[in-house]
Amino acid sequence: MPNLTRRQFSAAVVAACGLASLKLRAMQTAARQTGLRDVFKDDFLMGTALGGGGLAQGTSPLLELVAREYNAITPTNMMKWGPIEPREGEWQWEMPDRFVAWGEAHGMRVVGHNLVWHSQVPSWLFVDADKQPIGKDALIARLESHIRTLVGRYKGRIHIWDVVNEAIEDDDKGWRQSPWTRIIGPEFMERAFRVAHETDPKATLLYNDYNEHNPGKRAFLVGVLKDYRKRKVPIHGVGFQGHVGLDYPDLAEYEKSIEAIAGLGLPIHVTELDIDVLPRATRSTSADVSATAASSESLDPWKAGLPPEIDERLTARYRQFFELFLKHRKHVARVTTWGTFDGESWKNNFPVRGRTNYPLLFDRDLKPKAAYAGVVALK
Ligand code: GLA
Repeated sequence: MPNLTRRQFSAAVVAACGLASLKLRAMQTAARQTGLRDVFKDDFLMGTALGGGGLAQGTSPLLELVAREYNAITPTNMMKWGPIEPREGEWQWEMPDRFVAWGEAHGMRVVGHNLVWHSQVPSWLFVDADKQPIGKDALIARLESHIRTLVGRYKGRIHIWDVVNEAIEDDDKGWRQSPWTRIIGPEFMERAFRVAHETDPKATLLYNDYNEHNPGKRAFLVGVLKDYRKRKVPIHGVGFQGHVGLDYPDLAEYEKSIEAIAGLGLPIHVTELDIDVLPRATRSTSADVSATAASSESLDPWKAGLPPEIDERLTARYRQFFELFLKHRKHVARVTTWGTFDGESWKNNFPVRGRTNYPLLFDRDLKPKAAYAGVVALK
């Protein structure tokens, strides 16, 4: 028998066994009560994002699965500025408190998401009491006070923060035009990092974004990080959201970005991985999808179940990404999926509402999919 590397061997196993036995293997792994957290324990943390999902009751089949499979959790929406402070100073602590307590009780690395973003912000944030645009100093004061309160409440309990989300445009356009940059200027970002660090010096502070594989965006981000290093802005890693598809992005570009960030001595956290399997569509097509049966059929073709050949492509794509993460395991600190099972994914409603998508590792019945077994077989 020829000498095969571990990777070649597992590729051969997958090719030989096909989807059916991958599914069986996934169920066996789940039945053994070991999870992704154990499989990848020598490589990186395995995380997922939680919304409500039974946190109010303290238990649910989903929470049991999360406790078994994962060792890191991120809240989907409850800590974003809009939901957590809908009116100035009126904090909605109930669900975030439950989230953090549940994470602690189950030995999770708890991630906070997120402190500063241009989206999902409350309507009062950028205006004064007379609804006039707020000035620079007043907005800086709001930013700093928000961070002090939120990071301070969970000091020592939230281990990792997505401090700033999506501040950079694609290509070579540089800083995103948003109220943050328009009112404060790009320095809003370093202020956020400095205040978060002052408030909880032990927390790991991340910059989080999508499309880091984009060469122009990568170059700009690397420039910002080098400047931060020179001026000692406390940033401890970069989040790669990882909302990807079966045929995008180009993995070679994605790898270049991992290498570029790793080359600066910063770890990469994959923060929001999911793989869209549906035909590409834009938000503007969403009106059409319900308009005619034909467009519904072409944009939402797998309502009754994913055809085996697409399921195979999904499995193969998950394996490609995990192979890359394993190859760079020294620099990849965590891999988090955005949601746990297909039924709860935002990808059922974005960019087109009401479709049936299959982007995650567990199906609508919380059963592990072939993609799950495919990534487990890499070890
Ligand atoms: C972005 C945000 C997340 C979430 C996803 C979509 O990536 O960072 O908080 O809103 O979009 O659900």
